[in-house]
Amino acid sequence: MLPFGLCALLLAFAPAVFADSTPVLSRQSWHESSLSTALFQCAIDGLTELAIPIHEARPEIAADGKSPETFGAWTHQPICTPTLASLSSKLCVYTNASFSNGRGISIFTTPSLAEEFANLPAFRDPKALGGKAVNVNSRAWYTDQLPGKGVGMLASKNLKFHDRVTAYTPALIAHLEDELSTAEREKFFRIAVYQLPDATREAYLQLAYVYGHKAIRVQDIVKANTFQLNVGGQNHLAVFPETSRLNHACASNAQYYLDPSLLTHFVHVTRPIVRGEEITISYTSPLEPTHIRKQHLENGFHFVCTCPRCSAAAATDATLQDIEAMQNALNDWTSSSTATTKLAEKLIQTYRKEGLEGFMDMPYGFAALAYNAVGNAKKAEKYAKQAQEAILMKDGPWTPNMQIWIDLLKDPRKHWSYQRRKP
Ligand SMILES: *[C@@H]1O[C@H](CO)[C@@H](O)[C@H](O)[C@H]1NC(C)=O
Repeated sequence: MLPFGLCALLLAFAPAVFADSTPVLSRQSWHESSLSTALFQCAIDGLTELAIPIHEARPEIAADGKSPETFGAWTHQPICTPTLASLSSKLCVYTNASFSNGRGISIFTTPSLAEEFANLPAFRDPKALGGKAVNVNSRAWYTDQLPGKGVGMLASKNLKFHDRVTAYTPALIAHLEDELSTAEREKFFRIAVYQLPDATREAYLQLAYVYGHKAIRVQDIVKANTFQLNVGGQNHLAVFPETSRLNHACASNAQYYLDPSLLTHFVHVTRPIVRGEEITISYTSPLEPTHIRKQHLENGFHFVCTCPRCSAAAATDATLQDIEAMQNALNDWTSSSTATTKLAEKLIQTYRKEGLEGFMDMPYGFAALAYNAVGNAKKAEKYAKQAQEAILMKDGPWTPNMQIWIDLLKDPRKHWSYQRRKP
């Protein structure tokens, strides 16, 4: 039956929040990858010499007389590994140094996936990035050293809900694999970074790293700054130099999503930020129990989380259980349901009190349904719009839950939820 199908969808999305329900992108820690293990467990001790100084990582393989016209979407001849058994393909470095008005991009991937990249609107449609002011400085932020945190991103003016913070394409994208040796991988990553335009390469090389061993610096920077990007069903690691300056907070004031066709990482403000205040995003789902969040941050990002939602574990976890109980009640459409609009309002307040303004799609969505269920179409519309707005900043327009609110907003009175619970 349709109504319960939709409710089930909503329920299915409720506990699996954020990274896991985001089809295209998550912070690396969330899906701790085979690469990071293979990359660094075995390798560091044996490597004492710099394989190739980064600024001299010229491809060893000279262009074999081919003219640039034959490189397709790329400005440099692709440089390839032998066939990797695990992928049944070679991996090559594909660089387009003129990408997005000379920002440049390097992609280490298979030849067939390189084709898929080259066919994306980000490459094909000359207006796709410019039209959305991608890779344009929003003048909303600057970077600075922050005590105990390294470099962070701060607001250069007062920012309000929904303001754009950043929208950037990656400097480096790399296919996930665990077959290359660390030294081999470093060699190809260095070629990729070397071939970028100067400004983009320098921005990359200035990023933070985890291990600090120079021989693996380019991979080390990937390790510390990666977002996962799924292209052609394959996981890639992507490094966005500007965006990487956003530090983690348990109750972040900004939210991000990735547009895979534009290869663009968008960040928007989710609660007012004053000039000089740090702008933060959440590296893990803030709705997971504290020990899970702490573990993700330690394993994936190598820091111990000390913000209030980590240090006050008992209180935070109690609140998270309240949230779950409220959501379960609001998702109950049987005649014995305890769902009320008051409960929905309380859920919204609880999210806000926790500083979860970037994750309001669920509470707004429950409020829209709760109000519609007692025949208050006006408030249902208001909350459905807010749920949509939250999804657009958190997951992007293609998210399945979007359709629920499009359907409701067509005509709340014809929606399955209308007057389903008598007031
Ligand atoms: C590089 O990317 C741009 C898009 O920014 C595209 O127009 C161009 O054709 C691509 N290829 C080369 C060789 O410049």
